[in-house]
Amino acid sequence: MKAVLYLSKANQEFDKESLKALELQSAENNRKLGLSGYLYFDGSKFLQYLEGEEENLMPLLNRIREDSRHDFLCETEEEIPAKRFPEWNMKNIQSMVLELGLVEKTIIQTLSIFVEKGYHLDKGISRDLFKLMDHLKVVTF
Ligand SMILES: Cc1cc2nc3c(=O)[nH]c(=O)nc-3n(C[C@H](O)[C@H](O)[C@H](O)COP(=O)(O)O)c2cc1C
Repeated sequence: MKAVLYLSKANQEFDKESLKALELQSAENNRKLGLSGYLYFDGSKFLQYLEGEEENLMPLLNRIREDSRHDFLCETEEEIPAKRFPEWNMKNIQSMVLELGLVEKTIIQTLSIFVEKGYHLDKGISRDLFKLMDHLKVVTF
């Protein structure tokens, strides 16, 4: 099983309606693919976490990467023994647009600086980022 986390920059305005449409379409599609995760939007950048079986996750990730509505800034992935958010699947909430919390804001800011400086997301940083996902899991439930 795999987990991916990416930061992207929106190429167009996303108002409440278009975010809702994206959320509904994604939730339905992700459910069919057995994927879970969430989507944060800070008004200009997206932070999305997705997890599930590699054969379902990777083709979708390629499609999302090619979506002209945004540009990927950086991404990282890891093997996971089990889903972090299986309950979100059961609740049919695969994609959520939430008020940004401190953790998500910090991740977006930190990753943005990384991208601007041209730094590479090495293994250690990547591992720490996913550890933050565990933290998110704890504060969410
Ligand atoms: C920031 C962002 C996140 C997205 N997340 C998902 C997602 O989790 N699941 C999904 O099916 N589509 C997602 N999409 C939409 C896909 O890029 C694509 O439009 C959708 O899968 C429909 O593809 P199709 O028109 O080839 O069927 C996302 C798009 C954007 C801009």
